[in-house]
Amino acid sequence: MPVQFWEEKKLFTVSTDNTTLAFSVFDCNYLLSQYYGKKIRPADLLRLWQPGASGFTPNYDGAFNGRHALDVMPTEYPSYGGGDYREPAIGVEFPNGSRLLDLKYVSHTIENGNVEPEGLPGLSGGDQTLEVTLCDHFSGLTVVLRYVTYEKIDVITRNARIVNTTGAPVSVTRALSASLDIAESKFDMISLYGGHCWERQVCREPLRHGTQSVGSRRGTSSHHHNPFIALAAPHTTEFTGEVYAATLIYSGNFIASADVNYQDEVRMQIGIHPTDFRWKLEAGETFTTPEAVLTYTDKGLNAMSQNFHNAVKHHLGHTKFRNAPRPIVINNWEATYFNFNEEKLLGIIDSCKGLGIDTFVLDDGWFGKRDNDHSSLGDWFVDTNKLPNGLTPLIEKCESQGMTFGLWFEPEMISEISELYKVHPDWCMRLPDRPYCRGRHQLILDLSRDDVEQYLEKVVGDILANNRISYVKWDMNRHFTDVYSTQLPAERQPEVFHRYVLNLYKLLDNLTKRFPDVLFEGCSGGGGRFDMGMLYYDPQIWTSDDSDAIERLKIQYGTSFVYPPQAMTAHVSACPNHQVGRVTPFNTRAAVAMSATFGYELNPLQLSEEERAEIANQTALYHKIQPIIMNGDFYRVVDPFTENSCCWMFVTPDKDEAIVTYTHKLRFPYWHRRVKFVGLDENATYHVTELHGSFEADLGGDELMYAGFAIQCCNDFESKVFMLKKI
Ligand code: DGJ
Repeated sequence: MPVQFWEEKKLFTVSTDNTTLAFSVFDCNYLLSQYYGKKIRPADLLRLWQPGASGFTPNYDGAFNGRHALDVMPTEYPSYGGGDYREPAIGVEFPNGSRLLDLKYVSHTIENGNVEPEGLPGLSGGDQTLEVTLCDHFSGLTVVLRYVTYEKIDVITRNARIVNTTGAPVSVTRALSASLDIAESKFDMISLYGGHCWERQVCREPLRHGTQSVGSRRGTSSHHHNPFIALAAPHTTEFTGEVYAATLIYSGNFIASADVNYQDEVRMQIGIHPTDFRWKLEAGETFTTPEAVLTYTDKGLNAMSQNFHNAVKHHLGHTKFRNAPRPIVINNWEATYFNFNEEKLLGIIDSCKGLGIDTFVLDDGWFGKRDNDHSSLGDWFVDTNKLPNGLTPLIEKCESQGMTFGLWFEPEMISEISELYKVHPDWCMRLPDRPYCRGRHQLILDLSRDDVEQYLEKVVGDILANNRISYVKWDMNRHFTDVYSTQLPAERQPEVFHRYVLNLYKLLDNLTKRFPDVLFEGCSGGGGRFDMGMLYYDPQIWTSDDSDAIERLKIQYGTSFVYPPQAMTAHVSACPNHQVGRVTPFNTRAAVAMSATFGYELNPLQLSEEERAEIANQTALYHKIQPIIMNGDFYRVVDPFTENSCCWMFVTPDKDEAIVTYTHKLRFPYWHRRVKFVGLDENATYHVTELHGSFEADLGGDELMYAGFAIQCCNDFESKVFMLKKI
């Protein structure tokens, strides 16, 4: 059984195939962490926690041998006020202004399976759920800690419910999803930082004493930091070494932190960012934190990523597209920007004939009077100047060519130059009469309001119901400022950020359930909201507005730390590239984009016959290899952050087939690179063929993995793709 309670030792063990999380009910009923790591048999590890008496660490009554203080004890869900001076997981303010909380074990339940958190996206298909109820006996406040095991993939999810059983209103000021005390601190902290057009760059720095954190207070998970933290032993590589990692199934403000204390222990935490957050709980109400996804491995960063990938591939969301083939899309954004009309679009669709593309997606500019980004967000009706006959001729044209039609929306926004603004200026996120900021000339709709959520459900729903649309690109192009909702009283203003996210989830939940055949793609100026919360509803996300293949090596490589390639949309775009001006070979652009959910972002009318033939080959190939990209295990092999090249591999779970993509950055003389492949069957022989090249040979899995494979990649920005098939 993955979850067990050892009555005698008052010990809980929460296990997966290769890991154990253990904690116990200690003196005075404190819930103390004992262990998280490689699987071990049940043992009482409290003997390992023998902190010596230390000055200035107040003890609680009945402290074991008079020596233990909460300041040095490992705690499952630390709170404020009882002498633990590290970062708490929970903060509560009572009507008398007291913030003191002393949470103690009351009871627990163990159930088979799991139920997703109410109103929030979460993993499903868990093996067992443990809920441990804690109580602050002085106030009567209850906290329920929830653990769900996913044995096969070495993942444990955690979250908490704060239940106001005090009989009076309380304010929750901090409500993290998981807190993990680890008895050592010689780790590197790995996080994913970046910006618009350069998302999820990998940062790895040794921990130091004190608190180090990443987070977002921008209202979305953001381009700037991803809701992810890993603590890796200093010598951990992609394939060896210990890693503790966590991500959050949440799309709003978050914090992920590591706090090293004077005893050289680390507290790793993840959850909703406590700054700009406060939630009033009336008597009897419950606050549920988002789910944190935790994993531990001693097999390096690749194994960590595969555990996260498996969580997404097998346990996140209910869309029928989760592991199904995705359409190859052509999107008109970089082909036309706002400058199109019916004739031009029909020409583009027409020229897709014979290219093997599945879906044409009409991007920004089809609605209101949207000739630039100054106007019309909120006016979700067709611009009849550009499209006098509506969407129908475009849809029919697509269908006549065996393609389907997709449409771009940015539902969460409003332009001041719009019909919607004339009627509902009060729907914007801002404080009336106070000067406010714009981002990309637009304001954010106050989606914390239920009427705004219902309105969006209706307008987007009507378009989907009245047109044959198979694909929605759901964009979001600015971060929050002037956070204020006219519908909430003063004391509830710090709830706006989280209420917004809850209603966004409600909106997406209702729309995706009502239109189960529509594939929703997430986007926020590229990958500004690339998190497991959005992936629950949108199984793929436009990875970055930077479509340059060389930039994408780092972006896709970094993104793969947490998210599987099937979740990343990647398109071949025109050259010179619109974001960085770089000219790269067509093959390289395709090789990089094919390592994800594939498509095009260019004007097919401007292609040469040769390029059209290339595209027909590329789409045929992608249709063939897509099952390997979607369902294969992904391996990072050569790191583009530290090397002049990048290599990654996809290997089918049965190890029968593999794809190796190698991309060289800049040429220098006599380049020759030996790459050791990974994930293959060492006893098998593989037929190795080079796409667009002449190399072909039968080679042993052992040879390929342990001796390596020599790659000759001569030119700037050249890619080589090899297909491996077990003989
Ligand atoms: C930002 C997206 O990332 C782009 O792909 C495009 O859809 C534009 N928005 C349109 O405004």
